[in-house]
Amino acid sequence: MNWFTKQSRFKKPLIAVTLVTAGALALSGCAGGGAGAGADESSAAVAITKVGVAMPTQTSERWIADGDAVKSQLEEAGFTVDLQFANDDIPTQTQQIDSMITSGAQLLIIASIDGTALTSQLQAAADAGIKVIAYDRLIRNSENVDFYVSFDNFKVGVAQGTSLLNGLGLVDATGAKAADAPSGPLNIELFAGSADDNNATFFFDGAMSVLQPYIDDGTLVVKSGQTKFDVVATLRWQQEIAQKRMEDLITSTYGGGSTPLAGVLAPYDGISRGIITALQSAGYGDTIADGLPIVTGQDAEIASVKLINDGVQFSTIFKDTRTLASQAVTATKDFAAGNTPEANNTTDYDNGVKVVPSFLLPVVTITKDNIQSELVDSGYWTAAEVAAGVAS
Ligand code: BGC
Repeated sequence: MNWFTKQSRFKKPLIAVTLVTAGALALSGCAGGGAGAGADESSAAVAITKVGVAMPTQTSERWIADGDAVKSQLEEAGFTVDLQFANDDIPTQTQQIDSMITSGAQLLIIASIDGTALTSQLQAAADAGIKVIAYDRLIRNSENVDFYVSFDNFKVGVAQGTSLLNGLGLVDATGAKAADAPSGPLNIELFAGSADDNNATFFFDGAMSVLQPYIDDGTLVVKSGQTKFDVVATLRWQQEIAQKRMEDLITSTYGGGSTPLAGVLAPYDGISRGIITALQSAGYGDTIADGLPIVTGQDAEIASVKLINDGVQFSTIFKDTRTLASQAVTATKDFAAGNTPEANNTTDYDNGVKVVPSFLLPVVTITKDNIQSELVDSGYWTAAEVAAGVAS
């Protein structure tokens, strides 16, 4: 068991406790509450007591968990919070951020829908002295992004690609070449996330960094020939779009289900479930043991964790929303104290205008073998939720 035991995914982790309110920190102008590197003159001017939190959608449970965790941890630290979800609609999100600015938020935490669509909102924020933290998704084309908290997105892709290779028997769980690896050729297909989300490229590039050598030597064959990011991307990460593309691929390239398909790279659990539905309907089998192709995922959504437990989906990537929320709150407290939040990456996240200082968290690959140790023992999901496939 680790220190998250009994912490629900909607609650703060133990390390996020603060005894000093942010307002007091900001007003006193003293350092504290973070590992920040020195005072930031510009931020000391605006006392931060109210935080606007803009999340993309409630259709994926991870964003609900993120929103709830950020809100509860900020409130516990003494901030007032305006939390909004935008239903994956860009005008709704821009309008919500406009209204957070006009209603007096002094700091914004934003998980964008389209990372390129917020330039004028961020300019208005900067003009009002409001700090902006990009949450999980980098906001592009703006100099007014002060900090970025996320997971190591390239490594998420590497983990997805490695997991696909593992499911296909080519490598072991550590990524080392398997002794009894099949020589192939094995047919695979590739899916990527939404092209307007900066993360989608990182995930795809990370996955291809481990898959490409196997494609180059003929072990893996992308039989459709669809290997370019723009072709395999899935607008807004939608399950229905992924299911339709998989159905079309089965018809165009796999003889309606009669041609072997060994695996599918899927970047997000909703997309994975759309792909699995299409494969099951085409007769590939109900479970991996029946011949269902290996399908990867991301986010440890409860519906997919159940599928993994039942031997249907092969894997997912666990990104603990509690630690991400905690990191966003730490950065908020640093800004409130007039400090610069501590970054652990100052090279990789160029948003088109500047390299945004970032704090990146690690991720864990989940298969049937570690659902209990990583997700249940840490309190992220209960055993009953895993069995039911529904959050309670
Ligand atoms: C997040 C993923 C998520 C995807 C779809 C990405 O920006 O990093 O965790 O699966 O959006 O919501």
